[in-house]
Amino acid sequence: MDIKNNRAIGVFDSGIGGLTVVRALMERLPFENIIYFGDTARVPYGIKSVETINRYAMQITEFLLKKDVKLLIVACNTMAAVAYQAIRDLSPVPVLEVIEASAKIAVAETRSKAIGVIGTPATINSNAYSRAIHLLDRNAKVFSQACPLFVPLVEEGWFDHAATRLVAEEYLKPVMAEHIDTLVLGCTHYPLLKPLFQDIVGKQVRLIDSAEAMAEIAADLINRENLSNENHLSPDYLFCVSDVPYRFQTIGERFLGRTLPRVEMVRL
Ligand code: DGL
Repeated sequence: MDIKNNRAIGVFDSGIGGLTVVRALMERLPFENIIYFGDTARVPYGIKSVETINRYAMQITEFLLKKDVKLLIVACNTMAAVAYQAIRDLSPVPVLEVIEASAKIAVAETRSKAIGVIGTPATINSNAYSRAIHLLDRNAKVFSQACPLFVPLVEEGWFDHAATRLVAEEYLKPVMAEHIDTLVLGCTHYPLLKPLFQDIVGKQVRLIDSAEAMAEIAADLINRENLSNENHLSPDYLFCVSDVPYRFQTIGERFLGRTLPRVEMVRL
């Protein structure tokens, strides 16, 4: 048994939303140890400058590398869009990010080649999704929409609230007018709005959930690189946050779909 494979997967996000990725990883890779970092003291990142997002991403990467992780997963679409290259340059272990994962699935699923992408302003302004999709299929047409109000609405737990529906109808109108058949949910928070989105866009539009896409790609890499944890006892989960954990603990359970075991406050 390779002892080094007992090392955890490091997953990080600007806050609580990355727990949707942890949830998908726990289901797909039930024997893997996971260390999560959520920058709850500084969230949201999606409306911050590229310089600031980069600096924060570097600090988190250093923190997780000191924890001796075997793989880094950038769950946050905003950090993936803006800081992926810098994170990779710093990391001696493999780095996976959500954008490529979702782009691959979107390109495989679309029939009309008209793909909608929704995300935070930083993600949409970076054009990272369009680039990733066009690298895979240069004939695809990408229609993007920044949706800054979704993150606070989800944090509030307003998953099926009338206000959220109104906001979603407004944001989705321009992308739906382009007759898309695939919509990429390009933000950690959006999987929690999936039933609402599906209701608005109709059954004929396929929603691409970046959390599920990420878990699939992580499982592939772990198998390919022989990184599987062969210790099949119950895995160790550690959740680190940069602010007092009370809010993370209560809201986080909705994201994770189960109780949050160990939550520690850390200073970067
Ligand atoms: N985690 C961010 C993302 O996926 C959303 C929250 C934020 O703006 O920091 O883009």
